[in-house]
Amino acid sequence: MPTLIKSGTIITASEIFEGDILIEDEKIISIGENLETAGAELIDAAGKLVMPGGIDPHTHFDLPMFDTISSDDHYTGHKAAAFGGTTTVMDFVPQDRASLNQSIADWHGKADNKAAIDFGFHMNITHLDDQIEKEIPTLLELGITTLKVFMAYNGRLRLQDGEIFRVLRIAKQHGMLTMLHAENGDVIDVLVSEALAAGKVSPEWHARTRPGWGGVEAVLRGAALSEQSGAPLYVVHINQAGEADQLRYARQHGVPVMGETCPPYLFFTQEDLLRPDGAKWICSPPMRSQKDTRGLWDALANGTLQTIGTDHCPFFFDGTQAINYEGRQVAIPGKELGKDDFTKIPNGVPGVGDRLPILWTYGVRAGHITPNQFVALTSTNAAKIFGIYPQKGALLPGSDADIVIWDPEKSLKYGRNHAHHRTDYNLYENWDLVGFPEKVLLRGSLIVDQEHWYAKPGNGRYLHREPNAFVL
Ligand code: URP
Ligand code: ZN
Ligand code: ZN
Repeated sequence: MPTLIKSGTIITASEIFEGDILIEDEKIISIGENLETAGAELIDAAGKLVMPGGIDPHTHFDLPMFDTISSDDHYTGHKAAAFGGTTTVMDFVPQDRASLNQSIADWHGKADNKAAIDFGFHMNITHLDDQIEKEIPTLLELGITTLKVFMAYNGRLRLQDGEIFRVLRIAKQHGMLTMLHAENGDVIDVLVSEALAAGKVSPEWHARTRPGWGGVEAVLRGAALSEQSGAPLYVVHINQAGEADQLRYARQHGVPVMGETCPPYLFFTQEDLLRPDGAKWICSPPMRSQKDTRGLWDALANGTLQTIGTDHCPFFFDGTQAINYEGRQVAIPGKELGKDDFTKIPNGVPGVGDRLPILWTYGVRAGHITPNQFVALTSTNAAKIFGIYPQKGALLPGSDADIVIWDPEKSLKYGRNHAHHRTDYNLYENWDLVGFPEKVLLRGSLIVDQEHWYAKPGNGRYLHREPNAFVL
């Protein structure tokens, strides 16, 4: 049966207008004024905002790390995303097996039967040899067009610059996009050893052993490799103003580099690691300073950065204590693993469900970004960059009917009880929010209606993404 969303204020990446949206067979059929269809199911959106479903290009569900695993899996994380207005996520496949194809098959094994919203995969390249080089182009047949490389995590994930250059050249040849984790692994290794030897083991040392200039230098190094290979580069989780400055410099010189930041870098600083529960804020790269939060907002507003992902990688703060999740008691080892040693604290923070509500109140309402920029940064640009536009990220005839109906008046004191993440804390506990998803549709089906959840594990569909996507 068709669905008709009536009389909403439609917001896209470039327009705001009053109108109706007609949906049939999972797709948007038409958008306009005074649409009527006999027999359509009506959704009254008067007084509400209607936007494309959010796209989070950076999640880590069910990811083994140190002696534990990230606490949201491909169902619980998808559910949290949906309640926050996100209808598509992209998760990173670790290169854990001899072949990339095996690693990807493993990740499908974890995700396909649990997925509740649509999803794609990026492939981590953390070991490179002749066989892997030959295998990379075959990922296109599996719908994977993106490769993540690391300049940090020596001995585990890091590639040398020459290897990153080789990955970029293969990516260029096949219309793929390389994603970069930009930190200086060598300097981090030295500083971590020195800190541990001196008995400096508290959470603040996580940031103090990962110096900001290491990231600044690494972004510029990445840009140089992009220029030298002619391949586009997307720098993930940009956490400081100096990195955005390097990106701007490279972009002004015509280098095809793009950047993502994540909400915690817009609000928190290194000082948060000094709190008694500072481990909650540990992620890599770390949060920096007030000057950096301001610089990142500027970089979003002036187009230096193209996306806001979450890098959602949640762990319990105290994984010895169970929480109730969908009626069952769940406890997963978490940040307490590093209570005596910051290097053992699993790196990562929750956020997939927080992203849109937090950015609406503290980004749009606070005047840092416009409503159109909100849509571009949280949905449309990611669809374009990652090869799923205009199927996703757009309100156009023929697009998937992934739609958020947003109540701009709903106000609440936010926190763990609203967020639906499967963890025992929320970074934004007790923050006042105004504006919240009221209804969320995935391919035309209502999956969230206020506090009601209608999706089932397996409802989400894997996205085969297209190469040669936009460089924004
Ligand atoms: O601390 C974080 N961000 N964990 C996830 C891994 C990564 O580098 O994105
Ligand atoms: Zn990373
Ligand atoms: Zn990440």
